[in-house]
Amino acid sequence: MSAVSGEGKNILDVIKEKARAKNRRVVLPEGHEPRVIAAAKMIVEQKIASVTILGDKETIARHAREYALELDKVQVIDPQKSELLPSFAQEFYELRKAKGITEAQAEETMKNILFFGAMLVRRDLADGSVAGSVKTTGDVLRAGIQVIGMAPGIKTVSGSFMMVVPKYRDQVNKVFLYADSAVVPNPNPEQLASIAVSTAQTMKNLIGEEPKVAMLSFSTKGSATHEDVDKVLAALEILRKNYPELKVDGEFQVDAAIVPEVAKSKAPGSEIAGYANVLIFPDLDAGNIAYKLTQRLANASATGPIVQGLAKPSNDLSRGCSAQDIVDTTAIAMLMKG
Ligand SMILES: CC(C)(COP(=O)(O)OP(=O)(O)OC[C@H]1O[C@@H](n2cnc3c(N)ncnc32)[C@H](O)[C@@H]1OP(=O)(O)O)[C@@H](O)C(=O)NCCC(=O)NCCS
Repeated sequence: MSAVSGEGKNILDVIKEKARAKNRRVVLPEGHEPRVIAAAKMIVEQKIASVTILGDKETIARHAREYALELDKVQVIDPQKSELLPSFAQEFYELRKAKGITEAQAEETMKNILFFGAMLVRRDLADGSVAGSVKTTGDVLRAGIQVIGMAPGIKTVSGSFMMVVPKYRDQVNKVFLYADSAVVPNPNPEQLASIAVSTAQTMKNLIGEEPKVAMLSFSTKGSATHEDVDKVLAALEILRKNYPELKVDGEFQVDAAIVPEVAKSKAPGSEIAGYANVLIFPDLDAGNIAYKLTQRLANASATGPIVQGLAKPSNDLSRGCSAQDIVDTTAIAMLMKG
Protein backbone atom coordinates (compact mmCIF):
# COMPACT_ATOMS: atom_id res chain seq x y z
CA MET A 1 0.00 0.00 0.00
CA SER A 2 1.34 3.42 -0.84
CA ALA A 3 -0.38 6.68 -1.47
CA VAL A 4 0.53 10.33 -1.57
CA SER A 5 -1.52 13.34 -0.49
CA GLY A 6 -2.10 16.57 -2.37
CA GLU A 7 0.67 18.27 -0.40
CA GLY A 8 3.13 15.70 -1.70
CA LYS A 9 3.31 13.87 1.62
CA ASN A 10 2.60 10.18 1.61
CA ILE A 11 -1.00 10.03 2.78
CA LEU A 12 -0.34 6.91 4.83
CA ASP A 13 2.38 8.87 6.65
CA VAL A 14 -0.17 11.59 7.37
CA ILE A 15 -2.60 8.96 8.66
CA LYS A 16 0.17 7.49 10.86
CA GLU A 17 0.96 10.93 12.29
CA LYS A 18 -2.69 11.40 13.17
CA ALA A 19 -2.85 7.90 14.71
CA ARG A 20 0.22 8.67 16.86
CA ALA A 21 -1.48 11.76 18.24
CA LYS A 22 -4.53 9.68 19.24
CA ASN A 23 -2.35 7.42 21.43
CA ARG A 24 -4.64 4.39 21.06
CA ARG A 25 -4.36 0.60 21.46
CA VAL A 26 -4.72 -2.00 18.70
CA VAL A 27 -5.39 -5.68 19.21
CA LEU A 28 -3.68 -8.01 16.76
CA PRO A 29 -5.46 -11.35 17.23
CA GLU A 30 -3.25 -13.45 14.94
CA GLY A 31 -0.21 -13.63 17.26
CA HIS A 32 0.80 -17.04 15.89
CA GLU A 33 1.63 -15.40 12.55
CA PRO A 34 5.24 -14.12 12.19
CA ARG A 35 4.18 -11.13 10.02
CA VAL A 36 1.98 -9.96 12.88
CA ILE A 37 4.93 -10.02 15.28
CA ALA A 38 7.11 -8.15 12.78
CA ALA A 39 4.30 -5.58 12.43
CA ALA A 40 3.87 -5.29 16.20
CA LYS A 41 7.53 -4.34 16.51
CA MET A 42 7.15 -1.58 13.90
CA ILE A 43 3.89 -0.30 15.41
CA VAL A 44 5.52 0.00 18.84
CA GLU A 45 8.79 1.46 17.55
CA GLN A 46 6.96 4.03 15.41
CA LYS A 47 4.58 4.77 18.33
CA ILE A 48 1.54 4.34 16.07
CA ALA A 49 -0.38 2.57 18.84
CA SER A 50 0.03 0.44 21.93
CA VAL A 51 -0.28 -3.23 21.01
CA THR A 52 -2.14 -6.23 22.43
CA ILE A 53 -1.26 -9.56 20.80
CA LEU A 54 -3.46 -12.62 21.20
CA GLY A 55 -2.41 -16.26 21.19
CA ASP A 56 -0.30 -18.93 22.83
CA LYS A 57 2.42 -17.18 24.85
CA GLU A 58 5.18 -19.65 23.94
CA THR A 59 4.54 -19.36 20.22
CA ILE A 60 4.47 -15.58 20.47
CA ALA A 61 7.69 -15.58 22.54
CA ARG A 62 9.40 -17.71 19.89
CA HIS A 63 8.41 -15.35 17.06
CA ALA A 64 9.27 -12.35 19.23
CA ARG A 65 12.85 -13.64 19.63
CA GLU A 66 13.08 -14.11 15.89
CA TYR A 67 11.92 -10.54 15.16
CA ALA A 68 13.61 -8.92 18.17
CA LEU A 69 10.30 -7.72 19.58
CA GLU A 70 10.72 -6.96 23.29
CA LEU A 71 7.70 -8.55 24.89
CA ASP A 72 7.62 -6.09 27.78
CA LYS A 73 6.70 -3.40 25.21
CA VAL A 74 3.42 -5.16 24.28
CA GLN A 75 0.55 -6.86 26.05
CA VAL A 76 0.12 -10.58 25.33
CA ILE A 77 -3.14 -12.37 26.14
CA ASP A 78 -3.92 -16.03 25.58
CA PRO A 79 -7.71 -16.12 25.15
CA GLN A 80 -7.80 -19.79 26.19
CA LYS A 81 -6.31 -18.96 29.60
CA SER A 82 -7.33 -15.34 30.14
CA GLU A 83 -9.14 -14.34 33.32
CA LEU A 84 -11.35 -12.23 31.07
CA LEU A 85 -12.75 -15.34 29.38
CA PRO A 86 -15.69 -16.07 31.76
CA SER A 87 -17.05 -12.53 31.63
CA PHE A 88 -16.49 -12.28 27.86
CA ALA A 89 -18.33 -15.59 27.41
CA GLN A 90 -21.19 -14.37 29.59
CA GLU A 91 -21.50 -11.13 27.63
CA PHE A 92 -21.42 -12.98 24.30
CA TYR A 93 -24.05 -15.42 25.57
CA GLU A 94 -26.32 -12.48 26.45
CA LEU A 95 -25.75 -10.96 23.01
CA ARG A 96 -26.50 -14.14 21.10
CA LYS A 97 -28.87 -16.17 23.28
CA ALA A 98 -31.87 -15.06 21.25
CA LYS A 99 -30.13 -16.74 18.27
CA GLY A 100 -30.10 -20.04 20.20
CA ILE A 101 -26.48 -20.11 21.40
CA THR A 102 -25.72 -22.08 24.62
CA GLU A 103 -23.40 -20.91 27.41
CA ALA A 104 -20.90 -23.62 26.48
CA GLN A 105 -20.93 -22.49 22.82
CA ALA A 106 -20.47 -18.88 23.91
CA GLU A 107 -17.36 -19.84 25.91
CA GLU A 108 -15.98 -21.87 23.01
CA THR A 109 -16.56 -18.97 20.62
CA MET A 110 -14.85 -16.53 22.96
CA LYS A 111 -11.70 -18.68 22.91
CA ASN A 112 -11.49 -17.86 19.20
CA ILE A 113 -8.87 -15.15 18.72
CA LEU A 114 -11.07 -13.04 16.39
CA PHE A 115 -14.07 -13.06 18.72
CA PHE A 116 -11.90 -12.43 21.79
CA GLY A 117 -10.21 -9.53 19.98
CA ALA A 118 -13.58 -8.09 18.99
CA MET A 119 -14.74 -8.32 22.61
CA LEU A 120 -11.66 -6.38 23.76
CA VAL A 121 -12.76 -3.66 21.33
CA ARG A 122 -16.39 -3.85 22.44
CA ARG A 123 -15.25 -3.38 26.06
CA ASP A 124 -12.91 -0.50 25.13
CA LEU A 125 -9.90 -2.54 26.27
CA ALA A 126 -8.60 -1.91 22.75
CA ASP A 127 -9.53 0.84 20.28
CA GLY A 128 -9.61 -1.38 17.21
CA SER A 129 -8.77 -4.84 15.93
CA VAL A 130 -6.69 -5.67 12.84
CA ALA A 131 -6.82 -9.24 11.52
CA GLY A 132 -7.04 -11.21 8.31
CA SER A 133 -3.40 -12.10 7.60
CA VAL A 134 -4.42 -15.72 8.22
CA LYS A 135 -8.21 -15.70 8.72
CA THR A 136 -10.61 -14.94 5.88
CA THR A 137 -12.47 -11.65 5.38
CA GLY A 138 -15.72 -13.48 6.17
CA ASP A 139 -14.34 -14.66 9.53
CA VAL A 140 -13.07 -11.18 10.43
CA LEU A 141 -16.38 -9.53 9.46
CA ARG A 142 -18.51 -12.10 11.29
CA ALA A 143 -16.64 -11.54 14.58
CA GLY A 144 -17.05 -7.76 14.18
CA ILE A 145 -20.74 -7.98 13.31
CA GLN A 146 -21.62 -10.39 16.11
CA VAL A 147 -19.51 -8.91 18.92
CA ILE A 148 -19.04 -5.20 18.16
CA GLY A 149 -22.28 -4.68 16.26
CA MET A 150 -23.34 -1.90 13.96
CA ALA A 151 -22.83 1.85 14.41
CA PRO A 152 -26.04 3.68 15.37
CA GLY A 153 -28.42 3.93 12.42
CA ILE A 154 -26.20 1.83 10.13
CA LYS A 155 -27.69 -1.28 8.54
CA THR A 156 -24.69 -2.90 6.95
CA VAL A 157 -20.96 -3.39 7.14
CA SER A 158 -19.23 -2.34 3.94
CA GLY A 159 -15.73 -1.95 2.55
CA SER A 160 -14.40 1.25 1.04
CA PHE A 161 -11.20 1.81 -0.90
CA MET A 162 -9.08 4.92 -0.59
CA MET A 163 -8.01 5.73 -4.14
CA VAL A 164 -5.19 8.18 -4.71
CA VAL A 165 -5.01 9.28 -8.36
CA PRO A 166 -1.52 10.64 -9.20
CA LYS A 167 -2.88 13.31 -11.51
CA TYR A 168 -6.54 14.20 -11.86
CA ARG A 169 -7.20 17.33 -13.98
CA ASP A 170 -5.18 20.07 -12.27
CA GLN A 171 -4.83 18.15 -8.99
CA VAL A 172 -1.91 16.01 -7.89
CA ASN A 173 -2.65 12.93 -5.81
CA LYS A 174 -6.38 13.43 -5.64
CA VAL A 175 -8.09 11.26 -3.00
CA PHE A 176 -11.43 9.57 -3.65
CA LEU A 177 -13.24 7.02 -1.52
CA TYR A 178 -15.10 4.26 -3.41
CA ALA A 179 -17.75 2.01 -1.80
CA ASP A 180 -18.98 -0.60 -1.49
CA SER A 181 -16.17 -2.41 -3.24
CA ALA A 182 -15.85 -5.47 -1.00
CA VAL A 183 -18.81 -6.74 0.99
CA VAL A 184 -22.46 -6.31 -0.08
CA PRO A 185 -23.22 -7.78 -3.53
CA ASN A 186 -26.59 -6.19 -4.17
CA PRO A 187 -27.46 -3.58 -1.54
CA ASN A 188 -31.07 -2.55 -1.05
CA PRO A 189 -31.85 1.19 -0.63
CA GLU A 190 -31.39 1.11 3.17
CA GLN A 191 -28.06 -0.66 2.81
CA LEU A 192 -26.98 1.72 0.04
CA ALA A 193 -27.81 4.68 2.26
CA SER A 194 -25.79 3.11 5.10
CA ILE A 195 -22.83 2.58 2.77
CA ALA A 196 -22.96 6.29 1.83
CA VAL A 197 -23.11 7.47 5.45
CA SER A 198 -20.28 5.16 6.55
CA THR A 199 -18.05 6.19 3.65
CA ALA A 200 -18.66 9.88 4.34
CA GLN A 201 -17.60 9.22 7.94
CA THR A 202 -14.48 7.40 6.73
CA MET A 203 -13.59 10.44 4.59
CA LYS A 204 -13.86 12.70 7.64
CA ASN A 205 -11.98 10.35 9.97
CA LEU A 206 -9.12 9.39 7.66
CA ILE A 207 -8.61 12.30 5.29
CA GLY A 208 -10.24 15.16 7.16
CA GLU A 209 -11.87 16.46 3.96
CA GLU A 210 -15.52 17.38 3.83
CA PRO A 211 -17.31 14.46 2.15
CA LYS A 212 -19.19 15.25 -1.06
CA VAL A 213 -21.14 12.11 -1.80
CA ALA A 214 -22.30 11.06 -5.28
CA MET A 215 -24.87 8.27 -5.60
CA LEU A 216 -23.82 6.67 -8.87
CA SER A 217 -25.90 5.09 -11.60
CA PHE A 218 -26.04 4.70 -15.37
CA SER A 219 -28.47 7.62 -15.33
CA THR A 220 -28.04 11.30 -14.43
CA LYS A 221 -30.97 13.17 -12.90
CA GLY A 222 -33.66 11.18 -14.67
CA SER A 223 -31.91 10.67 -18.02
CA ALA A 224 -32.99 7.01 -17.84
CA THR A 225 -35.77 5.17 -16.05
CA HIS A 226 -35.21 1.70 -14.66
CA GLU A 227 -35.73 -0.14 -11.39
CA ASP A 228 -31.96 0.05 -10.75
CA VAL A 229 -32.17 3.85 -10.95
CA ASP A 230 -35.18 3.78 -8.60
CA LYS A 231 -33.04 1.90 -6.06
CA VAL A 232 -30.44 4.67 -6.06
CA LEU A 233 -33.14 7.34 -5.79
CA ALA A 234 -34.75 5.50 -2.87
CA ALA A 235 -31.38 5.47 -1.09
CA LEU A 236 -31.01 9.20 -1.77
CA GLU A 237 -34.42 9.86 -0.28
CA ILE A 238 -33.44 7.99 2.91
CA LEU A 239 -30.25 10.04 3.13
CA ARG A 240 -32.05 13.37 2.62
CA LYS A 241 -34.60 12.48 5.28
CA ASN A 242 -32.30 10.97 7.91
CA TYR A 243 -29.04 12.85 7.31
CA PRO A 244 -30.05 16.37 6.18
CA GLU A 245 -26.56 17.71 6.98
CA LEU A 246 -24.85 15.23 4.61
CA LYS A 247 -23.68 16.72 1.30
CA VAL A 248 -25.08 14.12 -1.08
CA ASP A 249 -26.73 14.14 -4.49
CA GLY A 250 -27.62 11.87 -7.41
CA GLU A 251 -28.42 9.92 -9.31
CA PHE A 252 -25.27 10.62 -11.31
CA GLN A 253 -23.26 8.94 -14.00
CA VAL A 254 -19.69 9.02 -12.82
CA ASP A 255 -18.63 11.72 -15.31
CA ALA A 256 -21.34 14.04 -14.00
CA ALA A 257 -20.10 13.29 -10.47
CA ILE A 258 -16.45 14.20 -10.98
CA VAL A 259 -16.12 16.36 -14.13
CA PRO A 260 -17.36 19.96 -13.60
CA GLU A 261 -17.98 20.61 -17.33
CA VAL A 262 -20.13 17.49 -17.66
CA ALA A 263 -21.88 18.34 -14.42
CA LYS A 264 -22.81 21.79 -15.79
CA SER A 265 -24.74 20.28 -18.67
CA LYS A 266 -26.07 17.08 -17.11
CA ALA A 267 -26.77 18.20 -13.53
CA PRO A 268 -26.97 22.01 -13.47
CA GLY A 269 -27.42 23.51 -10.03
CA SER A 270 -26.10 20.52 -8.10
CA GLU A 271 -23.63 21.40 -5.35
CA ILE A 272 -22.04 17.93 -5.54
CA ALA A 273 -21.95 17.23 -9.28
CA GLY A 274 -18.47 17.72 -10.69
CA TYR A 275 -16.84 17.85 -7.26
CA ALA A 276 -17.69 14.54 -5.56
CA ASN A 277 -14.93 12.89 -3.50
CA VAL A 278 -17.03 9.97 -2.17
CA LEU A 279 -18.34 7.69 -4.90
CA ILE A 280 -21.12 5.28 -3.94
CA PHE A 281 -21.70 2.51 -6.45
CA PRO A 282 -25.08 0.89 -6.93
CA ASP A 283 -23.74 -2.62 -6.39
CA LEU A 284 -20.60 -4.60 -5.67
CA ASP A 285 -19.93 -5.44 -9.33
CA ALA A 286 -19.66 -1.74 -10.14
CA GLY A 287 -17.72 -0.83 -6.97
CA ASN A 288 -15.18 -3.60 -7.30
CA ILE A 289 -14.65 -3.18 -11.05
CA ALA A 290 -14.32 0.59 -10.69
CA TYR A 291 -11.58 0.47 -8.07
CA LYS A 292 -9.54 -2.03 -10.04
CA LEU A 293 -9.98 -0.06 -13.28
CA THR A 294 -8.89 3.16 -11.57
CA GLN A 295 -5.91 1.36 -10.09
CA ARG A 296 -4.80 -0.11 -13.42
CA LEU A 297 -5.73 2.60 -15.93
CA ALA A 298 -5.05 5.70 -13.86
CA ASN A 299 -2.11 4.21 -11.96
CA ALA A 300 -3.91 5.04 -8.73
CA SER A 301 -3.00 3.52 -5.39
CA ALA A 302 -5.82 1.56 -3.76
CA THR A 303 -5.90 1.12 0.02
CA GLY A 304 -8.54 -1.15 1.48
CA PRO A 305 -10.99 -2.65 1.93
CA ILE A 306 -11.48 -0.31 4.86
CA VAL A 307 -14.15 -2.01 6.95
CA GLN A 308 -16.80 0.51 7.94
CA GLY A 309 -20.22 0.55 9.56
CA LEU A 310 -19.31 -1.20 12.82
CA ALA A 311 -19.81 0.60 16.13
CA LYS A 312 -16.04 0.35 16.75
CA PRO A 313 -13.14 -0.42 14.41
CA SER A 314 -12.35 -3.95 13.27
CA ASN A 315 -10.21 -3.90 10.15
CA ASP A 316 -9.42 -6.59 7.66
CA LEU A 317 -6.17 -7.55 5.93
CA SER A 318 -5.54 -9.44 2.75
CA ARG A 319 -4.05 -12.87 3.44
CA GLY A 320 -1.18 -11.90 1.16
CA CYS A 321 -0.41 -8.82 3.26
CA SER A 322 3.06 -7.79 4.35
CA ALA A 323 4.05 -6.70 7.87
CA GLN A 324 4.04 -3.11 6.50
CA ASP A 325 0.41 -3.54 5.35
CA ILE A 326 -0.50 -4.57 8.91
CA VAL A 327 1.19 -1.41 10.23
CA ASP A 328 -0.66 0.76 7.68
CA THR A 329 -4.01 -0.88 8.43
CA THR A 330 -3.41 -0.39 12.15
CA ALA A 331 -2.95 3.35 11.61
CA ILE A 332 -6.21 3.42 9.64
CA ALA A 333 -8.05 1.41 12.31
CA MET A 334 -6.85 3.81 15.01
CA LEU A 335 -8.52 6.71 13.16
CA MET A 336 -11.76 4.94 12.31
CA LYS A 337 -13.08 5.73 15.79
CA GLY A 338 -13.04 9.41 14.94
C1 LIG B 1 -20.35 -10.49 6.00
C2 LIG B 1 -20.35 -12.01 5.80
C3 LIG B 1 -19.20 -12.59 6.61
C4 LIG B 1 -21.63 -12.59 6.35
O1 LIG B 1 -21.60 -13.95 6.07
P1 LIG B 1 -22.60 -15.01 6.75
O2 LIG B 1 -22.26 -15.17 8.19
O3 LIG B 1 -22.60 -16.22 5.90
O4 LIG B 1 -23.95 -14.23 6.55
P2 LIG B 1 -25.37 -14.60 6.93
O5 LIG B 1 -26.20 -14.16 5.78
O6 LIG B 1 -25.49 -16.03 7.40
O7 LIG B 1 -25.63 -13.64 8.16
C5 LIG B 1 -25.06 -13.82 9.46
C6 LIG B 1 -25.33 -12.59 10.26
O8 LIG B 1 -24.55 -11.49 9.81
C7 LIG B 1 -25.41 -10.43 9.41
N1 LIG B 1 -24.79 -9.82 8.24
C8 LIG B 1 -24.45 -10.43 7.10
N2 LIG B 1 -23.85 -9.55 6.28
C9 LIG B 1 -23.83 -8.36 6.93
C10 LIG B 1 -23.35 -7.07 6.60
N3 LIG B 1 -22.73 -6.79 5.46
N4 LIG B 1 -23.51 -6.09 7.53
C11 LIG B 1 -24.10 -6.32 8.70
N5 LIG B 1 -24.58 -7.53 9.06
C12 LIG B 1 -24.43 -8.53 8.17
C13 LIG B 1 -26.74 -11.04 9.15
O9 LIG B 1 -27.75 -10.09 9.33
C14 LIG B 1 -26.76 -12.12 10.20
O10 LIG B 1 -27.06 -11.55 11.45
P3 LIG B 1 -27.62 -12.43 12.68
O11 LIG B 1 -26.70 -13.60 12.87
O12 LIG B 1 -27.60 -11.48 13.83
O13 LIG B 1 -28.97 -12.85 12.22
C15 LIG B 1 -20.23 -12.37 4.31
O14 LIG B 1 -21.16 -11.64 3.59
C16 LIG B 1 -18.85 -12.20 3.76
O15 LIG B 1 -18.00 -13.06 3.89
N6 LIG B 1 -18.59 -11.06 3.10
C17 LIG B 1 -17.27 -10.74 2.64
C18 LIG B 1 -17.12 -11.04 1.20
C19 LIG B 1 -15.69 -11.01 0.82
O16 LIG B 1 -14.92 -11.88 1.18
N7 LIG B 1 -15.33 -9.98 0.07
C20 LIG B 1 -14.03 -9.85 -0.44
C21 LIG B 1 -13.27 -8.79 0.29
S1 LIG B 1 -12.08 -8.01 -0.71
